[in-house]
Amino acid sequence: MASSVFHAPCGAPSIKQLECQKYVGLRPSVTLRFNCVKTKTVTTRRLVVTASKSHDGTTKKLGISDAECEAAVVAGNIPEAPPVPPKPAAPAGTPVVPSLPLSRRPRRNRKSPAMRASFQETNLSPENFVYPLFIHEGEEDTPIGAMPGCYRLGWRHGLVQEVAKARDVGVNSVVLFPKVPDALKSPTGDEAYNDNGLVPRTIRLLKDRYPDLVSQNYLLVIYTDVALDPYSSDGHDGIVREDGVIMNDETVHQLCKQAVSQARAGADVVSPSDMMDGRVGAIRAALDAEGFQHVSIMSYTAKYASSFYGPFREALESNPRFGDKKTYQMNPANYREALVEAQADESEGADILLVKPGLPYLDVIRLLRDKYPLPIAAYQVSGEYSMIKAGGALKMIDEQRVMMESLMCLRRAGADIILTYFALQAARCLCGEKR
Ligand code: PBG
Repeated sequence: MASSVFHAPCGAPSIKQLECQKYVGLRPSVTLRFNCVKTKTVTTRRLVVTASKSHDGTTKKLGISDAECEAAVVAGNIPEAPPVPPKPAAPAGTPVVPSLPLSRRPRRNRKSPAMRASFQETNLSPENFVYPLFIHEGEEDTPIGAMPGCYRLGWRHGLVQEVAKARDVGVNSVVLFPKVPDALKSPTGDEAYNDNGLVPRTIRLLKDRYPDLVSQNYLLVIYTDVALDPYSSDGHDGIVREDGVIMNDETVHQLCKQAVSQARAGADVVSPSDMMDGRVGAIRAALDAEGFQHVSIMSYTAKYASSFYGPFREALESNPRFGDKKTYQMNPANYREALVEAQADESEGADILLVKPGLPYLDVIRLLRDKYPLPIAAYQVSGEYSMIKAGGALKMIDEQRVMMESLMCLRRAGADIILTYFALQAARCLCGEKR
């Protein structure tokens, strides 16, 4: 079961007992209590599950031996047991009909929470989440209007606190998105590979707090975004030619420098989200040439030209100044084309294939899951998040349940990991925290 045990180092010393709710058909039904036992050092604290009522090994003596009990039954002295309960009454007016001659009644396996839990095919755990975080140069955290509950976090304070909160509930992976001052933007996006830019600086700070030590289980996985849009004065993911064309190979050159700069700062996974052709192979070669063979590439393989990115672009003030992204992002009408992209990314050395957006593209997630052995990521994008938040705020839907259902569905479709702005909220929910 998803939330039963997650072996994440448990960050909060105060957590002695973790109440993990089981999501059965997405309804928090049975609540199990597991003892969270502290083992070894503080940093390698793990959850150890112990049965709450174990058998103490002794049998109660009632004065009658097994042989005597058996003899009594054989002699016809059957001990009493409760009767079969009467058949529950149907409401008056229920039609009386012969039962349907069905050999298969799938409802049998959904009879009780325990049975539903036994037969649940897909699990959801905080370890499946990657938490996207917006950062800026400011000291304060600025709320993002179109994404209730999300902030542009001050890279030195708010961000560090948010990462600590996420780790407390088992979310150990984050992806960083910078809001870059307009004065640093340019047509060629050169700020993207400034080793002292906002992203590399932030990575170094986080890695200083959570160092990559085998002895400490590698406490934090940092994903970065590789694309020029936060740094481009045109708001495009690549360099824009005079006639409006996004230049492919020249952009890839910049992306390689960006990825190397992020790797140098300590990024674990670089994630090209730009959709230029050939960028995965080029980035792989650039990383390897600089000694970053260990840095992974999560490729935005099937990234669609979607209107669901609206709130994100508000968050980063990265709306394209003109035109749209349709010459590099995929047409939402296309399915087979995802295979063309996936073939290229796989052969160029991608470690993880990502589909984006998430829920409207479940078929594409399933396609890549079935055709490729690589891990699959799904990005539940800003528009998906904001719609659930808005529907919840207007009391049109139950926000928490819809949140959990949408994440479970992404997993069911075949996503191993999910990039979601709900990461913290959902992980808290899986850990049974009432908020
Ligand atoms: C751009 C990028 C975008 C998102 C992640 N990286 C937006 C875009 O392509 O315009 C969107 C994420 C979201 O909407 O949550 N490189």
